[in-house]
Amino acid sequence: MNKQINTLTQIIYQAGDIIKKNWNKPRKISHKGEIDLVTDTDVAVENFLIQKIKTIFPNATFLAEEQKQTTKTKLEKETFIIDPLDGTTNFAHGFPFVAVSVAYAKNGKIVLGFIYLPIFNEFFFAQKEKGAFLNGKPISVSKENILKNSLIATGFPYDISTKADYILKLMKKVLLSSQGLRRAGAAAIDLAYTACGRFEGFYEIGLKPWDTAAGWLLVEEAGGKVTNFSNEPYNIYSNQILATNGLVHQALVNLLTA
Ligand code: IPD
Ligand code: CA
Ligand code: CA
Repeated sequence: MNKQINTLTQIIYQAGDIIKKNWNKPRKISHKGEIDLVTDTDVAVENFLIQKIKTIFPNATFLAEEQKQTTKTKLEKETFIIDPLDGTTNFAHGFPFVAVSVAYAKNGKIVLGFIYLPIFNEFFFAQKEKGAFLNGKPISVSKENILKNSLIATGFPYDISTKADYILKLMKKVLLSSQGLRRAGAAAIDLAYTACGRFEGFYEIGLKPWDTAAGWLLVEEAGGKVTNFSNEPYNIYSNQILATNGLVHQALVNLLTA
């Protein structure tokens, strides 16, 4: 597996290089929805990843954002779950919180997770039962156990116009009970930052498998906890995610379900 991990790492660095190379160029943007964008870079990075990964995992299937799979794909024997560019709106505006997120699932379980932030040169990696790492160094979740001292992250779905009251209600509760609330615009980064202790927790509704698959493993391997808002086990098709250092988990469950 180590050889394959090294090759995947190189491929993901190269995918990030495509984002870096296009960073100062004009964007070619089209709309998937009113505020849901896709750029030529999203598509180029995804095509690059699939083509390269196929050469080392010829039997793998792909669950990738721009492939437009409409039904819930079951995780096959070997599946790669790919968000080629998490933070597309950020990328469109030149806001540097963008990431390549790749997870590898074997027999239905995510066993490898990679999240690369090319603009910040930060490469997060986790392997099931072997820990989580940032640029090769082990990371762990924060030790803060008081919600009032905690920095929490969230994000908003593209269909926010139909759910604004609910989202604002949750935000008000978390804002009043924590030290602060952040919305960086890339769920993979929110999860990676929770894994390395920059955030105590992250919650969001309506995310897709490619937003969370790699970050879920990162948070768990860094010693944190990932569930839905009701503290039930998370899966990549859950409509809610709550990822924390474990210590402020119950306090957030209480707020988000009240
Ligand atoms: C989005 C980002 C954002 C989250 C959205 C996602 P995209 O992914 O992760 O933070 O709030 O719900 O769809 O479109 O930038 O890959
Ligand atoms: Ca995404
Ligand atoms: Ca994306």
